[in-house]
Amino acid sequence: MAKTPADSKIIMTELVLPNDTNVFGNLMGGRLMYWMDIAAALCAGKHCNTPVVTASVDNISFENPIKLGNAVHIHASITRAFSTSMEVHMNVWGEDFVNQQRYKSNEAYYTFVSLGMDRKPVAVPHLHPETEEEVRLYDSALRRRQLRLILGGKMKPQDAEELKALFVEAKS
Ligand SMILES: CC(C)(COP(=O)(O)OP(=O)(O)OC[C@H]1O[C@@H](n2cnc3c(N)ncnc32)[C@H](O)[C@@H]1OP(=O)(O)O)[C@@H](O)C(=O)NCCC(=O)NCCS
Repeated sequence: MAKTPADSKIIMTELVLPNDTNVFGNLMGGRLMYWMDIAAALCAGKHCNTPVVTASVDNISFENPIKLGNAVHIHASITRAFSTSMEVHMNVWGEDFVNQQRYKSNEAYYTFVSLGMDRKPVAVPHLHPETEEEVRLYDSALRRRQLRLILGGKMKPQDAEELKALFVEAKS
């Protein structure tokens, strides 16, 4: 049965403590990626109701540092389910409660694979996007999937039909 992104949406909040920061008092990128991996795994696991593993992490740009003492909010949602894999989109926000400011830190896409108890990939439920934004993310997920599979050496560029359609003009 198809599920919606709302069925598995996760909002995870952490507090940036001294041991999480670099010498400038900002959250370390590696600590944030670890928290993002947990939030995305919870989201993917909630969608497919099986154990999941991280298959890949797309590039992450850190737009704004998150300061010591601030909160980190990670919003994770499934954008699309394929056969045994799922793409999870995350938006990360920092929040300064003292100055009452909320700021965007970064966003990223992680891919998870559902595994059975024999540790082999198993089929995941389809995803039915509902809102306009969910439909936009669902439609663009195929291009991102083909790009990451090419970069990961799992797909030949000539087989990436969705990407080719973007760059190669159709012959009339
Ligand atoms: C991810 C993993 C399960 C894929 O196994 P595999 O034997 O390559 O299986 P398949 O080729 O059948 O691929 C299974 C799915 O993974 C996807 N996948 C494989 N490599 C991928 C990659 N680099 N990026 C994104 N998706 C990938 C495939 O597209 C396929 O998805 P689909 O069924 O929806 O089409 C396997 O490589 C693995 O266990 N990796 C280690 C995971 C791990 O330990 N993560 C924590 C990091 S330490």
